[in-house]
Amino acid sequence: MIGSGRLGHYFGMAGHVRYSVPVLIVLLIFGFALLVVRYSEVFIDKRVFRQKNFLETLNSLSDQIPFEKIHFDYNFNEFAAVLKTMPKAPYLILYDSSNVDVVFNHVCNLQFIPNALSRLVAVAFDENSHAALKLKHPAIPNVLINLKPLVESLESVKENRGYLTYTLALVVHAKICASLALRGIDFWSMHQDSLWTQNFDLMNVEERYPDAYLLFDTIGNENPVYHRMRDWVCGATFFVRGNPTTFQFFSQVESFMLSHQSPDSTIFTYLCGHHHYKCQFLPQWMVSSFNYFEGPRENVPVLIQIDGGKQKGESKMDVLRRGNFVFQHENGTCDETNFHKLRENVKFGFPDFIRKDGSLKENSFQKTVYFMKNLFNVDPWNRKFYLTIHESLI
Ligand SMILES: *[C@@H]1O[C@H](CO)[C@@H](O)[C@H](O)[C@H]1NC(C)=O
Repeated sequence: MIGSGRLGHYFGMAGHVRYSVPVLIVLLIFGFALLVVRYSEVFIDKRVFRQKNFLETLNSLSDQIPFEKIHFDYNFNEFAAVLKTMPKAPYLILYDSSNVDVVFNHVCNLQFIPNALSRLVAVAFDENSHAALKLKHPAIPNVLINLKPLVESLESVKENRGYLTYTLALVVHAKICASLALRGIDFWSMHQDSLWTQNFDLMNVEERYPDAYLLFDTIGNENPVYHRMRDWVCGATFFVRGNPTTFQFFSQVESFMLSHQSPDSTIFTYLCGHHHYKCQFLPQWMVSSFNYFEGPRENVPVLIQIDGGKQKGESKMDVLRRGNFVFQHENGTCDETNFHKLRENVKFGFPDFIRKDGSLKENSFQKTVYFMKNLFNVDPWNRKFYLTIHESLI
């Protein structure tokens, strides 16, 4: 800019101030123009508005089921009291009418693993699914947190309805975890669409990490392409040692989810950057997500969550059927033969998903940037970046 180099020369010299006035005006106009451009970008970017609507609706839903409503609920108190008396940390699953069939299949999987089913406890999100599990498996501790009225109140919402329902379940999940942690209950949070290929119960995983407050599964597989996503939490399987710190952790997760469009897994990852939460990450030979099926498959994980593989119009049960992971006969009894074939079926299931090239495509500049960022503690392991990768979903 003409004259701007001389601005310093005139600076503080009262007698020459009038010379700098045109320069200041040019700078002001330039600055103003820059602001206008930046602001109009915000108004043009529709996603900003979608995100704002999404968070407003999510907050109003969450307000209708505050932490206290769960924590002081009579039935939930009774449920928590049962969990507290259990000799080993319970395996907690959440479900609703859309996946009660998957729960029954999971029960058949656990039935063939000694001492696993006796640790299973469940939270139902609607009355029908609560009654269905009670009827078929009355021994499984099972409490209702009814989200159906909230989900139904969304019927008039057109934008991102499915994603709102999904995120509401995550917010309520965080409140449940916070409540159990506050009561000092140690527990595993699990998913009914996880396959148990071996005796996870016998491994006493929580005792292998006596100093950790939180144990998390991670995304990815053995391929180098996942090296830059080290310790990115999957969030399907995790262990919580109930104490005031983990209560605070899940309260943080909840409030973060209500102010950012990020799912719990990315917030877990981000918060785990704080050492006082004492997070540890479970190896992928122990717990894997569907990413396993893209990888080299050298080991069969002990637990493997089927959080992918859906083709258009398929239900979760369809995917399980296609992978040969159904442990139930048509008449509802459990199929032990298929359980014994599970390790084999996992190793060779979904052959189309194997990725030919799992290498990390990165030039030396990108390599250097990654190295330097970690060295100077600028978003090490891309944890903050992970918080933003779901933004394109709405
Ligand atoms: C259920 O079906 C399986 C396989 O068809 C059969 O072996 C089993 O006897 C049946 N059980 C009952 C109770 O009908």
